[in-house]
Amino acid sequence: MAGNNPRSPVNADIRDPSLADGGRGRIEWAWSEMPVLRLLHDRFLAERPLEGLRVSGCLHITTETANLARVLQAGGAEVVLCASNPLSTQDDVAAALVRDFRIPVHAIRGEDTDTYYRHIGAALDHRPQVTLDDGADLVSELHKGRTELLEGLVGGTEETTTGVIRLRAMAREGALRYPIVAVNDALTKHLFDNRYGTGQSALDGVIRATNILLAGRAFTVVGYGWCGRGLALRARGHGAHVVVCEVDPLRALEAAMDGYRVMPLRLAAAQSDFMVTVTGDKHAIDRSHFEVMKDGCVLANAGHFNVELNLEALAAMAVERHCPRPSVEEFRLSDGRRIRVLSEGRLVNLAAAEGHPAAVMDMSFSNQALSVAWLARRGRELAPEVHRVPEAIDREVAELKLAAMDMRIDTLTDEQRDYLSSWREGT
Ligand code: NAI
Repeated sequence: MAGNNPRSPVNADIRDPSLADGGRGRIEWAWSEMPVLRLLHDRFLAERPLEGLRVSGCLHITTETANLARVLQAGGAEVVLCASNPLSTQDDVAAALVRDFRIPVHAIRGEDTDTYYRHIGAALDHRPQVTLDDGADLVSELHKGRTELLEGLVGGTEETTTGVIRLRAMAREGALRYPIVAVNDALTKHLFDNRYGTGQSALDGVIRATNILLAGRAFTVVGYGWCGRGLALRARGHGAHVVVCEVDPLRALEAAMDGYRVMPLRLAAAQSDFMVTVTGDKHAIDRSHFEVMKDGCVLANAGHFNVELNLEALAAMAVERHCPRPSVEEFRLSDGRRIRVLSEGRLVNLAAAEGHPAAVMDMSFSNQALSVAWLARRGRELAPEVHRVPEAIDREVAELKLAAMDMRIDTLTDEQRDYLSSWREGT
């Protein structure tokens, strides 16, 4: 740890410190889109709710995460960061975090698996009292190999659906040893971040990587959850013919009534120009789908882990592979068909674009900041389970965001409040 001495070096492992100027400019740009977080920054600076708290975050190292880190720091926390995905790190942001905010960052875009886990190890060497996860890798490493640290932990937070699923599985088996707040499950998180954030940024990734026109093309969304709904909506906005593949009958029905064509994946594969997975599931697109896939189909994944496309099977089927553009790899099959995979099947919105826009991360990360403060106050009283974000926090984030957007709403009259809480009044 660098400590507070501004002259001592910050213990970091980043690509290139000279990128800091560009990173700082982009962090400030995002800051201007994050009014709720700015407000919390001033509150935290005055109240110092995290004084001396050691926080390790395994998050996408983006401009928005930089602004979350600066808010936690304003609250008095000693923050260390590592990446939650080997391809999502913005090296200029990492450089600015180290130079301008003196935050130790262990993350290099494109790092190999060994380096990725070494960096998680470095974040754990900080001996965190609170962990911030996006996909539960930090919690997982702690429980698998660094159990001596569990004693000191007050609590943790989890940012994404896949992480929450993993943590609930741990809690069910009695394996989870400290309380985690499921930030993903806050309404002011998944209703907006997963839907509108992933919707816009995943499409942005596909477009930046390929520059292929979407209008008039068949665009298949695999998984119609919170992320899938947003992606389908935005793809339709570009004039694509949107197809949805699902395994859940309710979600499939919803997609159908939202106006999309619903069909099994093998059928969709034979006619799609684009297929994007957002299931959180393994091998959602598999060998049997590659076998019938339309020539030239572009494949991408926006779900958390790079397991949604079975790329081992595709590699085994390919007779030739090459990279015609950055972020695009083309696999040629023996019958001449070409299948184009974006960003090695990793989160396309972060690997081929910049991740979610700051205005939506404003809400997700305000939940994070307030949840960390709540854990600092209450964490020691909580059972080692997955906890909901307190409703008061969710509501406060919604109210602050509305106010920041200069929108006002009506309030219930006493008569209406009485009516809505009673059963006696009828026709
Ligand atoms: P969700 O649980 O709301 O939706 C997932 C949907 O996929 C469900 O409707 C499920 O029935 C469907 N599904 C599961 N297996 C399937 C299969 N084999 N074929 C077709 N459909 C299948 O989850 P949510 O919130 O939409 O998240 C999805 C994934 O995206 C998760 O991995 C999550 O962590 C990740 N995520 C990624 C973000 C990003 O920045 N790219 C942002 C937020 C979440």
